Amino acid sequence: MEMPTYRPGLEGVIATTTSVSYLDVDIEQILVRGYDLIELARELKYSDVAYLVIYGNLPNSSQSEEFAKELTSKAEIPEELYRLFELMPKNTSVMDALRTGVSFLSGYESPDRLGNNSYDTNLERGINLLAKVPTIAVSAYRVLHGLSVVRPNPNIGYSENFLYMITGILPDAESTDAFDKIHTCYIEHEMPNSTFAARVIASTLSDMYGAVTGAVASLKGPLHGGANEAAIKMVLEILTDGGPDKAEAYTMNKLKRRERIMGFGHRVYMKKYDPRALFLRDYIPRLADNIPNGMQISDIYKKVEYVMNREKGLYPNTDYPIGILYYMLGIPIPLYTPIFLCSRMAGLAAHVLEQHDDNRLFRPRVIYNGRRGLTI
Ligand code: COA
Repeated sequence: MEMPTYRPGLEGVIATTTSVSYLDVDIEQILVRGYDLIELARELKYSDVAYLVIYGNLPNSSQSEEFAKELTSKAEIPEELYRLFELMPKNTSVMDALRTGVSFLSGYESPDRLGNNSYDTNLERGINLLAKVPTIAVSAYRVLHGLSVVRPNPNIGYSENFLYMITGILPDAESTDAFDKIHTCYIEHEMPNSTFAARVIASTLSDMYGAVTGAVASLKGPLHGGANEAAIKMVLEILTDGGPDKAEAYTMNKLKRRERIMGFGHRVYMKKYDPRALFLRDYIPRLADNIPNGMQISDIYKKVEYVMNREKGLYPNTDYPIGILYYMLGIPIPLYTPIFLCSRMAGLAAHVLEQHDDNRLFRPRVIYNGRRGLTI
């Protein structure tokens, strides 16, 4: 039998059909359910875009209101989860606590129901997870860092409540708006590793909890969602090592050592600007006044971007500006990648729904390069 061409990292391989989203690199557009993601982020709030991603159509005004309410009314998590975070070893990362938390929720469904992957059951499950993952992530962070838990407030909006649970203080309108727009930019992105992982798991007819648990593990990696934490850590290192004037030397040294600059490059865009990064970078000078060294950080951003483009022809992906923006919003660094997952939960739910609706088991082949013919 002739084997098809092997593509390391499955680069360029078509894994499935989908109507959720598509990276139309030629026209530099991220298409989400037929709309340009950047236009959605500019014009709508996150919960409306989440509705679109999950249901396939934009909500009308009453659906919009109801869905926003549904998310906040379902945000509370079982008491056992708060206790679970207390029992976790203090070194547990928030991302790992989130992974465990998502998995834990499966136990609240009967075995019969859990085995039911019908559209309606999955829809309910997906929305429940979307509502609960922020509370899991933030509560895990607070408990693991010795802080008292801030329970979700069902009387305020999704993004306002998200920031409120993180800081314990009601955020101002500008911060809420910036957070909401970042959250929308992260909502869905075709077939990244985590979405692929979720679909591969779902394709065994395993349940959505398992699929999302796998996606959390995937997103944690620094080549994927973990890049937003790595990017801000690098910028802060440059800041303490001499500030914007040292950004060029810092970047050049890393490149000479053949190290990666986190928040740059992308399997699909690679030599083009990620449209989300292009949109969000304008928020950096706007939020710079929120923190003492904001303008310096903004200058470092630009310097590293310039050097990476000059030296490698690479552009920032969305994790680069987002790492900086979260910092300017006063969000603790260990929450950056978990927050990414919370946004992406809408996309993951949509993909698991789609996978279960028209399933074929993922089961690729290999090129064997091991030994043969051994006997014992
Ligand atoms: N810093 C420095 N060089 C980079 C780079 C980066 N961030 N991203 C890619 N490159 C270079 C590689 O060194 C390689 O150059 P070479 O051919 O001279 O060796 C070339 O670009 C291709 O890289 P490769 O790793 O083969 O591409 P990929 O498609 O497998 O990887 C990423 C894509 C995203 C994993 C990669 O760009 C990366 O590691 N980026 C940093 C992590 C990150 O920001 N991840 C978030 C993605 S949204």
